[in-house]
Amino acid sequence: YSVTVDPNRSGAAIDDTMYGVFFEDINRAADGGLYAELVQNRSFEYSTADNNGYTPLTAWKTNGTAKVVDDDGRLHARNRNYLSLAAGASATNSGYGTGYTLKKGEAYDFSVWARGDSEVTATLGDADGALATPRKIRTRGGWAQYRATFTPSQDTTTGRLTVATTKDTALDMVSLFPRDTYKGRKNGLRKDLAEKVADLKPGFVRFPGGCLVNTGSMKGYDEASGYERKRSYQWKDTVGPVEQRATNANFWGYNQSYGLGYYEYFQFAEDVGAMPLPVVPALVTGCGQNKATDDDALLKRHIQDTLDLIEFANGPTSTKWGKLRAEMGHPKPFHLTHLEVGNEENLPNEFFARFKQFRAAIEAEHPDVTIISNSGPDDSGTTFDTAWKLNKDAKVDMVDEHYYNSTRWFLQNNERYDSYDRQGPKVFLGEYASLGNQWSNAMSEAAYMTGLERNADVVKLASYAPLFARTDTVQWKPDMIWFNDQKSWGSADYEVQKLFMRNVGDRVVPSSATATPSTLEPITGAVGLSTWATSAAYDDVKVTGADGKTLLSDDFSGDAAQWTGTGSGSWSVQDGQYVQSDAAAENTLVTAGDPSWQNYDLHVKATKKSGK
Ligand code: AHR
Repeated sequence: YSVTVDPNRSGAAIDDTMYGVFFEDINRAADGGLYAELVQNRSFEYSTADNNGYTPLTAWKTNGTAKVVDDDGRLHARNRNYLSLAAGASATNSGYGTGYTLKKGEAYDFSVWARGDSEVTATLGDADGALATPRKIRTRGGWAQYRATFTPSQDTTTGRLTVATTKDTALDMVSLFPRDTYKGRKNGLRKDLAEKVADLKPGFVRFPGGCLVNTGSMKGYDEASGYERKRSYQWKDTVGPVEQRATNANFWGYNQSYGLGYYEYFQFAEDVGAMPLPVVPALVTGCGQNKATDDDALLKRHIQDTLDLIEFANGPTSTKWGKLRAEMGHPKPFHLTHLEVGNEENLPNEFFARFKQFRAAIEAEHPDVTIISNSGPDDSGTTFDTAWKLNKDAKVDMVDEHYYNSTRWFLQNNERYDSYDRQGPKVFLGEYASLGNQWSNAMSEAAYMTGLERNADVVKLASYAPLFARTDTVQWKPDMIWFNDQKSWGSADYEVQKLFMRNVGDRVVPSSATATPSTLEPITGAVGLSTWATSAAYDDVKVTGADGKTLLSDDFSGDAAQWTGTGSGSWSVQDGQYVQSDAAAENTLVTAGDPSWQNYDLHVKATKKSGK
């Protein structure tokens, strides 16, 4: 095989922003992850609406008379619940895992809102006892915030915080933050995780999702009743003082505190030297919910919210939202240049009717902002074709494509963008990954990225997804960066992303090859197949090879799901065909009737015998 490079010809320019990251609060990427707050459920707002197993006291253990109260005595209309401790009672929080990971000699900032004349004692300890001198705080009168600092005398991985009172007291927003956050920001980010992102040198940060943007109710939080509880991600919920940010049920099955909100996302993008790229909901739900909201007033409100978002990011401090940005600590603008409307919309016509209204309003006030549309959830099929046609007809600037595929697919589709219309919309490849975190997956992505780069005149932005996964709360894999309370590590895919992001060229040097990555070398090793399944909702799952042949199927009869049918242990690829070699072995997928969505991986061994 040979590769011919022509250094005398000049190809497309490659933008510095070409490779970036996509942050979504999935796999506990925010609370319990990047957001450095150590206290879980600090405002006692957890509810069964977030997760069936939650109560307002999740992550807390109480002693004595301690109850969560939702009444007019609350701290704020957007923060419903508070903890009422009777004299002598206490409550202990142990974070997201088995306890806080704390370092000897480092400062940890404790704060609490309290109402009532009392003495509150805050104790930082672990299984072996106190880690620092308990702090005694005199509280007086109405709601006020009190602070103290702890410096642990020992390292621990089982730290916990206890608050106790001498008289009846109301408490809320019980918080413990490491002083040593990324760039030392208040209400900041966990340093090792933020540094891993910064090390990539990303060109952009897309946030805040993903499915959590365009699912749930499009209505706003109702201060009178505390509802809507399952809201789409609405940026105004996430700015201002943290104790006034109404928490929400996250699409991924837990509560999101919004402590990491739009201000913090913008600040993070700036801190890592990346372009901020927010995504707003378009009043059509995707991600399986597939519902268009027909409420003109609500649509108008969301369009105005989007204009206000641009003002929050870029507006002078004399404007309402620019002023809020300044009050939060950033008088200078955040330089928003790109904004996406909608995420993975399955109803292309309904989405487009609304997208066009967003676009008209934004263009009228901010003609310099690039507005990104999307092509739905798939990389093929009717929805995708319809969405692309609508995007082209409407002369959209840029279209967000998403796909998660096998290593084989990535190797076989290196030329995908060679044939894209040069006159049509540009592409933002907003989410992609080869299905696994093995070297073979990372290599197939690297090979594929050469195809993105070769087409840098069409593919303007690209981000692997998802970015983070906390090992004890995984809703989706593969993921780029993994972590637990103690440490974090990049996957092989992370290393590939780093290689490309840190070495963005100026221009493509035209080259040609006598073969594509899929035909160059024999493939050996495991081929990862993956499906989302819930035995409650899935019938007839089928896994099909790239050649269209059924590899495995299942009718999911009964409660426990199983891979059966033609499914058997070992598959090989001969002359590009999947061949079943061991009829005796069985691949079994048992979901045991679990009604929640889980991601199941199936690894099929494929050995390519002949080298076509
Ligand atoms: O990246 C995980 C999910 O994949 C995103 O939330 C969604 O946009 C896509 O389906």
